[in-house]
Amino acid sequence: MSDLPPPRSWLFVPADSEKKIDKALQGDADAIIFDLEDSVAPANKKFARDILKGLGARDGGPRWWVRVNPMFEPEHREDLKLFGNAEFEGIVLPKAESAEDLVHLSHSTGSIPIHAIVTETPASLFNLGTYAGTQAPLAAMSWGAEDLSSALGARSKYDRDGRLAFTYQMARSLCLAGAVAAGAQPIDGVHTDIRNLDGLKEEARAAASEGFTGKLAIHPAQVPIINDAFTPSDTEVARAKAIVDAFAADPGAGVLDVGGKMVDRPHLTQAQNLLARAKR
Ligand code: COA
Ligand code: MG
Repeated sequence: MSDLPPPRSWLFVPADSEKKIDKALQGDADAIIFDLEDSVAPANKKFARDILKGLGARDGGPRWWVRVNPMFEPEHREDLKLFGNAEFEGIVLPKAESAEDLVHLSHSTGSIPIHAIVTETPASLFNLGTYAGTQAPLAAMSWGAEDLSSALGARSKYDRDGRLAFTYQMARSLCLAGAVAAGAQPIDGVHTDIRNLDGLKEEARAAASEGFTGKLAIHPAQVPIINDAFTPSDTEVARAKAIVDAFAADPGAGVLDVGGKMVDRPHLTQAQNLLARAKR
């Protein structure tokens, strides 16, 4: 899979909108997800695929991913034909229910990396542990509350205090743990309130501090906020370097004192991961 640093911002763009595609290509998202699924009306699916076929060669800028229609839908097969174009780095699979789905998909798509959206159906919540150890080329996992709440027949995603209800917080945490267990990039879900950028900032920072390394975006104004939240700060980088240097200077050590704080092997791994993400 790719040696590039994991994308921080993944911007959805409805693939039937040339205007939005142009705007996204000029922007600062680390990755664009050209969407063929929920944001494209059934009558426009073919038109959207034709736009993607006509994109030509990528010339720097955001990396290109495509969200296909779910596996059980007839459009899915047609969508997969796009991946003859090497400019598309990977495939975003919505409504993934378990690692079995990814193995099945990779029978058609080979080694093309997969970003699976893993909490969109009720059944999927019972299978977040199945991704660990999968043979499929799983690169990233993200979670979504919109389809899940609709499938559950919920009236709202929020509790009485206006916070995300427990069911969706659980889905989010299971996505995080499931992704890390699978060695995949954990990606936080969309912030649908597109005019509330302060709320987004808070949500993105919380996700970054919990271990997510990127977040889905749906509007260009969200991109810089997300990039910022998932970029390790100078202080974090300096601390990580100090930890890596301390273990390099004393390779036999299991535990060390770095700047007055106890650090052991898990801290070293964490520091190495952080430095890898800071490199861009
Ligand atoms: N990608 C690229 N450009 C986008 C964009 C996106 N996701 N969302 C909005 N824009 C553009 C608009 O076209 C507009 O361009 P202009 O200044 O050249 O006219 C500009 O950014 C400002 O957009 P704004 O007017 O604030 O929003 P809007 O009302 O046009 O669109 C949405 C709001 C929600 C319809 C739009 O953001 C969108 O389509 N988002 C993606 C939805 C999606 O893919 N959903 C599936 C995953 S959940
Ligand atoms: Mg959806």
